[in-house]
Amino acid sequence: MGSVREAIAAHHRELTGKLAEQVARLETSDASGDDLVTFLTTELLPHAAGEEQHLYPLMDDLIRKFGTATATMRIDHEYIAAASRQIEEQARALSDAKTEDERARQRKRLAKAAGQLEAVLRLHVDKEERAYLPLFEQHQTPEQQQSILDEMHESADEQHADHTGKELPNIELDVRPLPPAQRHAVIFRTFDALPGGEAFVLINDHDPKPLYYQLNAERAGQLVWEYLEEGPSEWRVSIGKTR
Ligand SMILES: [Fe+2]
Ligand SMILES: [Fe+2]
Repeated sequence: MGSVREAIAAHHRELTGKLAEQVARLETSDASGDDLVTFLTTELLPHAAGEEQHLYPLMDDLIRKFGTATATMRIDHEYIAAASRQIEEQARALSDAKTEDERARQRKRLAKAAGQLEAVLRLHVDKEERAYLPLFEQHQTPEQQQSILDEMHESADEQHADHTGKELPNIELDVRPLPPAQRHAVIFRTFDALPGGEAFVLINDHDPKPLYYQLNAERAGQLVWEYLEEGPSEWRVSIGKTR
């Protein structure tokens, strides 16, 4: 006989497998949602209720004694990071797509992955806001709260600088590893941090023409734009600031 832990994990695999099957059926056939709803009401929700009644009260106690309460949130962050990397690859595949069909297929994959990440992120921030922030607000002085917030901003800025290398002179800003949704913001921050008369080299996996129009419009009169390399797989643009 396997362990109870294995049995629970096996049941989880069964639940996620069944859900995935229902998703695939809805995507590839004209199945109604009835089977899915039956699965949710007769299997998934009862599983959650059973855990909440019998397993979680015990877990509260065990975590207090032997565990770490934030472990589950760190696992969320791992998932979010992995999904971001996957989305980044899919976005690259989309911009590399050669045919209209291929583009449509890649866009669908990317939209699905982004939608899954969105669901996880919504759940994650809801947990932080409902389980953490009330405790934080009640049990820390306003000064303590502010200093935590400042520290979080500082380390976010450092991470960001690792991506942009904005303190370095003659910097190269390779945005290819970044999720596309973040690229413009990072480029704008790099541009804004640039001293007048300086430039940085933007490296991208497609022609950043839309960025040119946006920068030119929003930083009118400040932009010096010069293509150094124009595809087919890599674009390098010297982006300078006049003043
Ligand atoms: Fe479960
Ligand atoms: Fe978080």
